[in-house]
Amino acid sequence: MAAPARDGVYVARVISRAEAQSFDRVAADYDRLGDLDRRDWMEPWLAAVLPDRGQRALELGCGSGRQAVTLASRFGQVDAIDLSGAMIGLARARRSRPNISYRQADLLELDEGGYDFILSGGGGDMGCAAVTHG
Ligand SMILES: C[S@@+](CC[C@H](N)C(=O)[O-])C[C@H]1O[C@@H](n2cnc3c(N)ncnc32)[C@H](O)[C@@H]1O
Repeated sequence: MAAPARDGVYVARVISRAEAQSFDRVAADYDRLGDLDRRDWMEPWLAAVLPDRGQRALELGCGSGRQAVTLASRFGQVDAIDLSGAMIGLARARRSRPNISYRQADLLELDEGGYDFILSGGGGDMGCAAVTHG
């Protein structure tokens, strides 16, 4: 049973820092798989749920920046964070945009607000996504 974390938000499972950092080892393969996978459900879903225009968006666990680019097409500023330095390196190298700020950080330690839209999710066949906007 999921425990309420705070403010009524339920967290089904929080992975350990070591588990999260395992993305360092697979970052390049993960990004390449995203290039090859034509069945990705995330992009059309995201296009449908995003507001047409907004000011500030946050992506938690941005990986190599695939969804951050979509957010950047609708929002004035996108902050995209990931625990994996390798993922952030790929995002900066492959999906840099003037209005995206990529940063290596732990989402569990963030204490920032003021976003119009927050996204956290994974693409591919086994994905999940959470989205909130005010
Ligand atoms: C399945 S990938 C999804 C990446 C991207 N959102 C996508 O759809 O391509 C999950 C990402 O969450 C990151 N992650 C896991 N735990 C994290 C944490 N505590 N703080 C920040 N990022 C985290 C991992 O490093 C990994 O890049």
